[in-house]
Amino acid sequence: MNKKSFLNVPKHYAARSHEKMQEVLMDKDAAGPIIHYYMIRGDMKNGRGNNITVWEPGIVGREYIKTYGHYHVGKLDETYTFVAGEGIALLQKLAVSEARDMIANIVEEFKAIPVKVGDKLFIPASYGHLVVNTGSGFLVTADDSPVNFEDVDPASLPGHADYGMVKQMRGFAFYVVEENGKPALVKNKRYLEIRKTEFSGLSVIGI
Ligand SMILES: [Fe+2]
Repeated sequence: MNKKSFLNVPKHYAARSHEKMQEVLMDKDAAGPIIHYYMIRGDMKNGRGNNITVWEPGIVGREYIKTYGHYHVGKLDETYTFVAGEGIALLQKLAVSEARDMIANIVEEFKAIPVKVGDKLFIPASYGHLVVNTGSGFLVTADDSPVNFEDVDPASLPGHADYGMVKQMRGFAFYVVEENGKPALVKNKRYLEIRKTEFSGLSVIGI
C-alpha cells in the first residue's frame, strides 16, 4: 500500500462506553470502566480481514463485562474465532408473530455456551448474540460479519446489526454474574416467556 492509498482507509475503530452499556446492564448504576470493549472493523471485501473485538476484564456490579448484544438484519450468520481469553457466549432466538415480526419479550430458545481461546462458534442467522468476558485478562475475538463503510457510523453501529430490541429489554434473557467466584445466570424479569433453555451446566440464581 502506498502513502496515498492510506488516505482512503476509513475510520475502522470504535469503543463501547460505560454510558452506552448502562442501557443493557443488570444494574445501570453500578460503577464500570470508561470503555467496556473495543471494536476494530475489518473489510473482508478489500482483503483487510476479520473484525476484532477486545473486552476489558472485570465485573460491573455483579455482572461480567459483556458486549451490548444484537440481532442481525436479514439472513446473515456469523462465526466467532476466540483469539485470547475465556468467556460465555449467549445466544437467543425470539418468538415471531404471525406477520413474522420478532417479539421482543418472548424467547423461543436461549443458550449459554462457555468459550475459550482456540474455539470457533457459529451463530445461525436468527440468533441474537453477545459474549461475556469471565477471564482475568482481555477476551479477544475475530469475526466475519460484513461491514459496509458507507454506513453512517460503521465502526460503532454497523448496518447489519439491530440493537433496538436488546435496548428495549435492557439486555438478554439472562445476565451472567459472579457467584462465589464463578459465573452464574440471573434471569432478566422483563422477559415474559423463555420457552427452551440450554445452560451448559451454569447455575441459575435469583437476586
Ligand atoms: Fe453479530
